[in-house]
Amino acid sequence: MSERLVEMLSAEDIQARVKELGAEITQAYKDKPLVLVVVLKGSFIFAADLCRHIDLPLRVDFLGVRSYGEGTETSGVVQITQDLSKPIAGEHVLIVEDIVDTGLTIAHLMDLFRTRGPKSVNVCALLHKPARARVSVKVDYLGFTIEDKFVVGYGLDFAERHRNLPYIGIVERD
Ligand code: IMP
Repeated sequence: MSERLVEMLSAEDIQARVKELGAEITQAYKDKPLVLVVVLKGSFIFAADLCRHIDLPLRVDFLGVRSYGEGTETSGVVQITQDLSKPIAGEHVLIVEDIVDTGLTIAHLMDLFRTRGPKSVNVCALLHKPARARVSVKVDYLGFTIEDKFVVGYGLDFAERHRNLPYIGIVERD
């Protein structure tokens, strides 16, 4: 079986949108300190670019989450593989996600974080696939809405491959 990558969003389109999102977030928080919670692993590239367009006092923390295994369908069980390094009580938290698909991961994280007493919890996602939603989640800052295709690149993987692509593409097989 041969595999081909078809570009869906170019590196330039992504960079332009990430810059806009950074400006939007900067405006919205108006100098309030922010904690960016980067959901690993898929969001590491998006978060690295996004934080450089946010002009606020911020700290960055990382959360490891697994819901997929090796396939392209979520198992529906969200497992925390690495917790935050510091408490978030009294902080404004912005969860940075690569993609909201079924919504189960974000819904789980919102529930979890609310038990920790933050001042606010919002969500910034690069991509959203509304066709696949299993629970309704509010994405406060969204890069792109996409159709129901499994995408890779710019941090997103298929069985750990393709994270290093500078663009977002669809894997096609013949
Ligand atoms: P959700 O819990 O179904 O919303 O899925 C969220 C997580 O599933 C994302 O953070 C990704 O890691 C992964 N995911 C969902 N759709 C895709 C995709 O099209 N490509 C790669 N990973 C995906």
